Amino acid sequence: MTSFLRNQWYVIGWARDIGTDCYARTVCGEPILVYRKANGSLAAMRDACPHRLLPLSMGLREGDNIRCRYHGLMLGPDGCAVEMPIRTQAPNRSVCAQSYPVLERYGFVWVWIGDAARADPALLPDFWMCEGPDWVFDGGTYHVKCDYRLLVDNLMDLTHETYVHASTIGQGELMESEITTHVEGNQVRVERWMANIPPAPAWRGMAEGGNVNRWQICHFVMPSNVLIDVGVTPVSAGATLEDHPIHSFVINAMTPETETSTWYYWGAARNVDIDDPERTARTKAIQAKVFGEDLEILEAQQRSIETNPDLKLAAFNIDSGGVRSRLAISRAIREQG
Ligand code: FES
Ligand SMILES: [Fe+2]
Repeated sequence: MTSFLRNQWYVIGWARDIGTDCYARTVCGEPILVYRKANGSLAAMRDACPHRLLPLSMGLREGDNIRCRYHGLMLGPDGCAVEMPIRTQAPNRSVCAQSYPVLERYGFVWVWIGDAARADPALLPDFWMCEGPDWVFDGGTYHVKCDYRLLVDNLMDLTHETYVHASTIGQGELMESEITTHVEGNQVRVERWMANIPPAPAWRGMAEGGNVNRWQICHFVMPSNVLIDVGVTPVSAGATLEDHPIHSFVINAMTPETETSTWYYWGAARNVDIDDPERTARTKAIQAKVFGEDLEILEAQQRSIETNPDLKLAAFNIDSGGVRSRLAISRAIREQG
């Protein structure tokens, strides 16, 4: 059975990276070409010429059209022929590369994988903290050679920080705090509240030598996104799980490329010091380092899964968030038939 959930919006790239040049990425096994038209709006189509399947992304942009670089078939931004290889022939408008619903939101470009007639902007995952005048958001991309669900597991269980991220955000107290998992429909939330603990290496200095309260509230959002409310405040600030300031989210959008590879779009959104580009750059550099540490683990885990086909993943109580998220994904995949 496929591991891809269809009839969903997926991030195909950062909006800033997609211009009038050809931009190609595979989403859920489907190679897709995206580009901007002269008026800035987006076109997305299957990255395969309807003639002999040469990737259209190797082609030539002409106005808002794309000309295949093999025999010169020219397609409009809707993916359908506007000029045949023999130019005196009338264009056959039934010669088309599949086009995809595409839209721009939250700093990303999203494509709809599935039945185009069902594409509805209202079904976009709600990344509310990635836009709006009071928030700033930035991040990067990693290509990870693993099943996207391993990334969901990883982000819905941050216990791994103790070992994988020991020099930055890891600390032993992660192993001593209870986690609670809440499920509402397809939404899964894992909460970890660490009261009155020493700050991890990345936050030393913020509490003037004193202890902090630290929290991680991980929200799984279909089909493959994890938004994490993270925070650390001095104990004297008196924050609680129910009543804490929301200043910072870690954003994770995992777009399956193949069954065993993923485009991982990550970033951080915050609503403090929003006019401080140096802080934004610093945060991005730290995230790049931290998530780079995960890559090695995730790719080794994928290889190990493939070399041990007789073994199954085990689930401990720390895995409850990932397990519940996977259940939501597999239930939806079953329902899609
Ligand atoms: S392969 Fe594209 S025109 Fe022939
Ligand atoms: Fe990690």
